[in-house]
Amino acid sequence: MYLGIDLGTSGVKALIIDAGQKIVASATADLKVARPASGWSEQDPADWISATSVAVGKLRSKHPAIVAEVKGIGLSGQMHGATLLDSADRVMRPCILWNDTRAHAEAAQLDADPQFRSISGNIVFPGFTAPKLMWVRNNEPDVSAKVASVLLPKDYLRLWLTGERVSEMSDASGTSWLDVGQRRWSPELLAASQMDIGQMPRLVEGTEPSGGLRAEVAAEWGIQPGTVVAGGAGDNAATAIGMGTVSEGDAFVSLGTSGVVFAANGSYRPNAESAVHTFCHAAPDSWHQMGVILSATDSLNWFAVLVGKSAAALTDELGDELRAPQGMFLPFLSGERTPHNDAEIRGVLTGISHGAGRTEITASILQGVAFAFRDSVEALSAAGTDVRRLTASGGGSRSLYWLRTIATALDLPVDVPVAGDVGAAYGAARLGMLAGGRASLAACTPPDIDQTIEPDQALRPAYEEAYQQYRKTYPAIRSTMS
Ligand code: XUL
Repeated sequence: MYLGIDLGTSGVKALIIDAGQKIVASATADLKVARPASGWSEQDPADWISATSVAVGKLRSKHPAIVAEVKGIGLSGQMHGATLLDSADRVMRPCILWNDTRAHAEAAQLDADPQFRSISGNIVFPGFTAPKLMWVRNNEPDVSAKVASVLLPKDYLRLWLTGERVSEMSDASGTSWLDVGQRRWSPELLAASQMDIGQMPRLVEGTEPSGGLRAEVAAEWGIQPGTVVAGGAGDNAATAIGMGTVSEGDAFVSLGTSGVVFAANGSYRPNAESAVHTFCHAAPDSWHQMGVILSATDSLNWFAVLVGKSAAALTDELGDELRAPQGMFLPFLSGERTPHNDAEIRGVLTGISHGAGRTEITASILQGVAFAFRDSVEALSAAGTDVRRLTASGGGSRSLYWLRTIATALDLPVDVPVAGDVGAAYGAARLGMLAGGRASLAACTPPDIDQTIEPDQALRPAYEEAYQQYRKTYPAIRSTMS
């Protein structure tokens, strides 16, 4: 048995697979995000530990014999968050999360230094880790002076699990401190942001062991002490391991809190100008590119709270048949990464008439997220990666209506896996298995496909026209902002 733990933004998922990679148990525990100011997004790392304990505790109470058989653990997690520890490993302030854009001025300052793009292969986005440390230096000097180490969210969980300060290449790629081509911390980039290599965790590959389970946690969970904990991966690379997106040409679209179009690459092909992310994959000698939008299901959840319905109820109301384009929604509720790199832009809803009710606005929101994905596919193409088809993943992909919108907006077939949960926690469990030396990367096969959603040819011209309109809306809105 192998345990995968995914530390997401809205919750922790713990999932166990057997040696044949069949899911035998899974459980979740919720997490909340605090937004103390516009553009801010924070969590208390102590909540990650308690949510993980709750999720694994649920597994243990329902399936004690299965949990006792766990031979390897893998971690996946929301990326880029800055968890700041003092010399006694105490957390000094809430973690500043991946979708927090307060450090946009600091990001622009680092990004203006050409070393960052050339060594890290990426734009320094405000949500990445390095500019957050500069923001803390500028705004909370007392905290900054005491930072002994900086850990990404799942790596903080690892510190609790193993006592080891370790990260791995895929997640470290999103700090702006990694030499992504060479797969090592960059002394130049650390120096350029006044950081020291001593503040950085040791690096392993995602498929390698990173440490063993501490006796205390092992006793709480009923798992053998010393059980190997794999390097694991950032949640997108972990999803790719779960979905078998490991070879050139493989790609998926993820509808989570964030939205991601992810393509596996056999070589390192940075192209920062296109605003795609070029990161290490979870396996040695492989990389990936992705377009990231900050608010995917988060956009629908915003509307769901507003109208007092669940997101699932809203998508169910739409029925099965794809509608003609509805109004215009730009999903920039907390700024945008690909393709705009704009922390200050905010969401827009236009083209609404008297006849527009809840369902029309829901359709408009799903459409806006689909057009944002289309922007990402265009950006990937500019970066040399042509996406030909996509496999659907993430909670939002349960809405076939949303997938129909995406297939038509992107003019690409979307494969829908058979019911099952082959996302980040599943990928993490696979990495736990690989680190235990029980299998090779060849075991990371794609899921069986239940159905393929083809673009709706009758509606393609209307969606194409609406997409062209969508592209014009961003600069028009931008020009009205001071
Ligand atoms: C990727 C990113 C998000 C988070 C979501 O760059 O910021 O996809 O990983 O958890």
